[in-house]
Amino acid sequence: MLRTDDPDVAAAALAEGHLAALPTETVYGLGARADLPRAVARVYAAKGRPADHPLIVHLLDPYALLAWGVELPEWAGALAEVFWPGPMTLVVRRSDRAGDFVTGGQDTVALRVPAHPGMRAVLRALGERVGDDAVGIAAPSANRFGRVSPTTADHVLAELGDVLGADDVLLDGGPSAVGVESTIVDCTGDRPVILRPGRVATRGVEAVTGLTCGERSAVRAPGTLASHYAPRARVQLVDAVDLEAAVGGLGLPAARTGVLALAEIATPPGVVRLAAPADVTEYAQVLYAALREADALELEAVVAVPPDDAGIGEAVADRLRRAAH
Ligand code: TXA
Ligand code: MG
Repeated sequence: MLRTDDPDVAAAALAEGHLAALPTETVYGLGARADLPRAVARVYAAKGRPADHPLIVHLLDPYALLAWGVELPEWAGALAEVFWPGPMTLVVRRSDRAGDFVTGGQDTVALRVPAHPGMRAVLRALGERVGDDAVGIAAPSANRFGRVSPTTADHVLAELGDVLGADDVLLDGGPSAVGVESTIVDCTGDRPVILRPGRVATRGVEAVTGLTCGERSAVRAPGTLASHYAPRARVQLVDAVDLEAAVGGLGLPAARTGVLALAEIATPPGVVRLAAPADVTEYAQVLYAALREADALELEAVVAVPPDDAGIGEAVADRLRRAAH
């Protein structure tokens, strides 16, 4: 695999049907041209991901929504207009562009217009190379199935270095600014349903659409299983006031235990402080690196104090719950 910081090198590899691990503002993705079944099949193989788990198709221009989706409600257009480019994915009814090999056989497709400048440069260069300005890059997070998403190029290397081929590319675009995966909004019903929380909060979706988000969706989103985003270490969630007691109650040597909490929460004696983010935005940025660090240090347990459920705290708490499952 070739590691580069030149988006055109990644676009050239994709154009030829190879894979490219790509930076986005949320997490790194493992990309293939969304119109090439064999390239997309390699993404599933590299991740060890079940074939019925659909992929997100990344697009350069919000108007490409009209090429990939059909029967769009007006409020889906409003979400695209306000939040794209950005950390939000819309699930819509698919057009003929979206093959079964991308959607897991569903009649919907997940679409996202990312904001990361490197990723956007790849989409632009790929569109020029293949002569299609609505070209899509199908990209799941660039981790092995069920594991923690990568937020740096080094993380991608650790996850997929030994399964990518000589012609595949890793584009280094620096650490991901958001740190947790995009908000997924199901746009196939009469109101939005949040399938996965992210940087775009429920309140923002409701403000833009003028609708109250629904609770239940007819759409299947397999990657949102209860156990996901999990490190090898056992993860336990506690309130700040219970932190010290919880660490003691583990019955482990303190040095085998990691703690993850906002900076304002003190570290119990002897434990490994994995991260001390100043606020919830930073909590999201450092979350996955901290879980990786726990595994690198071969810790047995991580005790985490989730942030409040407001804004991106919603997404951080969600990922911590899944890591703890
Ligand atoms: O931030 C992100 O969304 C990152 C970056 C790389 O864009 N991507 C990402 O992809 O997290 P992935 O494959 O790890 O998670 C995509 C989620 C899965 O839970 C999948 O089930 C859901 O999106 N999904 C994809 N297509 C869908 C569809 N048509 N209907 C319902 N859910 C879908
Ligand atoms: Mg993923």
